[in-house]
Amino acid sequence: METAKNKQTKNFGLTFNKFSLILLIACVLIPNMAVFGQSDGNDNACVECHKRTVQKDILHGPTATSCTSCHESNGKKHPLADVVGFTLFAEGAELCYSCHTVFKEEQNLKFVHKPVKNGECSECHEVHSSNNKNLVFAKSPELCFFCHSNFDKDREKAKSIHTASYAGDACTQCHKPHASAEKKLLADNSKQLCLNCHNKKIEKKDGAIIANIEKHLTESSYMHKALSSSCTSCHNPHYSSRNLLLTDNLPIGIYAKGVEENFALCFGCHDTDLLNLEKTDSYTQFREADQNLHFLHVNKEKGRNCTSCHDVHAANNTKLIAKTVKFGRWDMPLNFIENENGGTCATGCHKERSYSRGAVK
Ligand code: HEC
Ligand code: HEC
Ligand code: HEC
Ligand code: HEC
Ligand code: HEC
Ligand code: HEC
Ligand code: HEC
Ligand code: HEC
Ligand code: HEC
Ligand code: HEC
Repeated sequence: METAKNKQTKNFGLTFNKFSLILLIACVLIPNMAVFGQSDGNDNACVECHKRTVQKDILHGPTATSCTSCHESNGKKHPLADVVGFTLFAEGAELCYSCHTVFKEEQNLKFVHKPVKNGECSECHEVHSSNNKNLVFAKSPELCFFCHSNFDKDREKAKSIHTASYAGDACTQCHKPHASAEKKLLADNSKQLCLNCHNKKIEKKDGAIIANIEKHLTESSYMHKALSSSCTSCHNPHYSSRNLLLTDNLPIGIYAKGVEENFALCFGCHDTDLLNLEKTDSYTQFREADQNLHFLHVNKEKGRNCTSCHDVHAANNTKLIAKTVKFGRWDMPLNFIENENGGTCATGCHKERSYSRGAVK
């Protein structure tokens, strides 16, 4: 696993060797310079030799003021070849927590990111100075990919990509880098997390408009229980080998071959008998007496997709029957009216038709 720090250290090796060489030459040529003299703890003096520590745009607070707020002299002459002149006040995260006291409390959250738990702050942060705000080695997503290089390996082949997850602040729009009360280090519960952005219409690059999901949910009387805690039971937040980031099969559009694999997304939670049984008096309420009207509508070569009647997010009709469905560019009305024994539809597909389950059980 190549990490940000590995890279940094490698680079450092090179520059430091050159630096030492220059230093050595300087010592020989300018005997008066106190290069091998005792360092008196004057921080300006440190920087004269250790320019690299203050080289980048953004200085870590204490770097700007006092090297010795972290490095303590052990009294030995500095620098001396192969003699260590300084010790850190504390090891690993404890050094950081000695000033960033509130960050220590993050360790008490339910989910703590592994490198944070291990005290490996400097796997992600530069301790002296950095070209990025928050002193990170690289911005997200690159920072995350240093360790999560596999996570993303199928993205090239994906059918849909949530480009929002890779743009702007990318990963940290949804994940906390240190710790979180939510699983998978999420910044919010998975549903709210999505609605933080899907609370408006979004225009995609190709000009297509994505509906305002939050508005639709708040304006609907019935919400699909599948959404109650999470959107990710159906959508992958990063990318997917299917359309619309779906986690399992579901065709897009009105028609699809009526075999259960095609609707695997729904049948991950619902019983396939609602589709497969031609006759039933219990597996579905959508029936004329014991004739299964799901079977009738869906189970054929050119069957109707579930989404040609149901709005999978929410609806004002019971049973998530949509008000309208997209038929090409047409918002085709369904005009569903429920009654205690069945219901009536009058759609672009057919004139008014009613079904009745017979005596209520
Ligand atoms: C005259 C130049 C010079 C000055 C001044 C100097 N250093 Fe160094 N420092 C070096 C060199 C050269 C090395 C590498 C020594 C080696 O490879 O063993 C080094 C190594 C270090 C190291 C890593 C090894 C160790 O000894 O712990 C630390 C930490 C360090 N310096 C901190 C400081 C601090 C803090 C100051 C100011 C109080 C300071 N240095 C002042 C030249 C200097
Ligand atoms: C916030 C605490 C902190 C401050 C302030 C700080 N350092 Fe460091 N320094 C560290 C830590 C931690 C390491 C070990 C880095 C690692 O393991 O990646 C380190 C390593 C070093 C090293 C050896 C390796 C390297 O990265 O170059 C030198 C030299 C050094 N510091 C010099 C300085 C000088 C000079 C200053 C002041 C300009 C300074 N440090 C200020 C925490 C600090
Ligand atoms: C001696 C006290 C001290 C120590 C030790 C210390 N810091 Fe800081 N740190 C500060 C101060 C002061 C600031 C600047 C104040 C601020 O921005 O809140 C700061 C700011 C930061 C920032 C935010 C920078 C930004 O761009 O907003 C990060 C990240 C950070 N420190 C990480 C670390 C890490 C990682 C360690 C341990 C290797 C560490 N600090 C150790 C005092 C310290
Ligand atoms: C996996 C990478 C990673 C690790 C490990 C990590 N951080 Fe951070 N840290 C970040 C990122 C990214 C940010 C920027 C915050 C954001 O985007 O939400 C940050 C922000 C910070 C800040 C500034 C935040 C603020 O609100 O001012 C401090 C301080 C900090 N980290 C300290 C630490 C300390 C201490 C540790 C070790 C216990 C640590 N970090 C470990 C990635 C990391
Ligand atoms: C220094 C290496 C490192 C970096 C950098 C890093 N991670 Fe991680 N991350 C890990 C490790 C190790 C695990 C634990 C993996 C495991 O247990 O299988 C992990 C786990 C996770 C998890 C899953 C947590 C869970 O509860 O299952 C998420 C989400 C995550 N990281 C997001 C991020 C994000 C976002 C970034 C960039 C801000 C990032 N990571 C940067 C090492 C890293
Ligand atoms: C739009 C929000 C969002 C963004 C942006 C995002 N993620 Fe996630 N990520 C999630 C959610 C939600 C989950 C949990 C999925 C679940 O419930 O199974 C997750 C899970 C993960 C996991 C754990 C995977 C597992 O199978 O346990 C990792 C690792 C991860 N994300 C890394 C990243 C990285 C790296 C980035 C940036 C390239 C990123 N995420 C961007 C929302 C997001
Ligand atoms: C940071 C803002 C942001 C967050 C958070 C966010 N989205 Fe998105 N989402 C977008 C944007 C912008 C688009 C349109 C461009 C694109 O595909 O990324 C989009 C597109 C989509 C699409 C349509 C993809 C397509 O192929 O047309 C789906 C589905 C989606 N998001 C689901 C989710 C889910 C589920 C979550 C929560 C895990 C979520 N989004 C969180 C901004 C966001
Ligand atoms: C039960 C599965 C399921 C759940 C849970 C779910 N979705 Fe969807 N979502 C779908 C399906 C299926 C489609 C495609 C609808 C269609 O083709 O008519 C879709 C479409 C979308 C789209 C694209 C809409 C457009 O106008 O192009 C977005 C954005 C979206 N969902 C976001 C979300 C968000 C946010 C959540 C959580 C609040 C969520 N979804 C929960 C199944 C689900
Ligand atoms: C993550 C699980 C899950 C997935 C995936 C899922 N559902 Fe559901 N669905 C539920 C739950 C839970 C209920 C509530 C059942 C109940 O109350 O008896 C429900 C109820 C329904 C209802 C009846 C609503 C009502 O008011 O009784 C319909 C219609 C429905 N789902 C259609 C679908 C369709 C179409 C799909 C595929 C796009 C789908 N579901 C995918 C979990 C899921
Ligand atoms: C032609 C329109 C239509 C299609 C296509 C359709 N449904 Fe339905 N579905 C209904 C109606 C109408 C009801 C309400 C029956 C009632 O309660 O009167 C219903 C009810 C349901 C229910 C509630 C339980 C039940 O069966 O009564 C679920 C779950 C469901 N449908 C899932 C699906 C799935 C999954 C698909 C795709 C495989 C699908 N539906 C396709 C019209 C349709």
